Amino acid sequence: MEGPGGEGTPVPSVGIVLGSGLGALAGAIEVIGTLDYAEIPDFPVSTVEGHRGRFIYGRLGGKHVLAMEGRVHYYEGYPIGEVVLPVRAMCGLGIGTLVVSNAAGGLSPLFEAEDIMVIGDHINLIPNPLVGRNDPELGVRFPDMSEPYDRELIALAHGVAAEQGLLLREGVYVGGTGPSFETPAEVRYLRTIGGDAVGMSTTPEVIVARHQGVRVLGFSLITNVLTGRPACLGGVAKLTHDEVIEVGRRSTAALSALVGEVVARMP
Ligand code: HPA
Repeated sequence: MEGPGGEGTPVPSVGIVLGSGLGALAGAIEVIGTLDYAEIPDFPVSTVEGHRGRFIYGRLGGKHVLAMEGRVHYYEGYPIGEVVLPVRAMCGLGIGTLVVSNAAGGLSPLFEAEDIMVIGDHINLIPNPLVGRNDPELGVRFPDMSEPYDRELIALAHGVAAEQGLLLREGVYVGGTGPSFETPAEVRYLRTIGGDAVGMSTTPEVIVARHQGVRVLGFSLITNVLTGRPACLGGVAKLTHDEVIEVGRRSTAALSALVGEVVARMP
């Protein structure tokens, strides 16, 4: 198989989804070529401010990578099959590992804004993208989900973070539909069911990657904390998308440095 740059270019070994405000990693990629989603027939294009829409093919840490700068979300109104189409395409091109990132609200009382969390497991509250006819060429009807996020890669991330002097949290990511942020009662509910952070993406993409046998490593940038806010006690603390984007921008450098090094050392 040849890479997305045409004949003679290698197949990317790693696919990367650059989520909200995590653009700095794009700058670390030695770009070979880019392709706007808008140029691909029938491809979903994000309508959200702060989300670009293009593939970047290039080199990172000595590996050929294919990065999605921007993704579409279920809350934008796309059917779930279209939301996961870009990840399906990367898996089809032959990536062996998918690195996903997102912005999330902290549910764990230990978390603070600007923390970085490696995703240890998830709870999917977005429609499952595998509902419907199964294509056995892609994967089995009932895929195993006992280790959605690769333990070896998580251990590698912890090791690199320790070397970089970066506090790396680990926890359970809850993928919700959004687009409204959580009510105080929903925050208590999500914490009770086992969530450490909540966002509006990622879990469907991880499900299709695992369906296709691709290893996954995921990171959440905690842009805001939901517990301990006055809102939890029925108070008035408000959360805006601007706040999420701004904190995302501030922590993007640390997460990018971590992911860049982890990719370089991936087996
Ligand atoms: N809730 C859901 N999604 C989010 C949040 C949040 O508090 N912060 C960033 N993405």
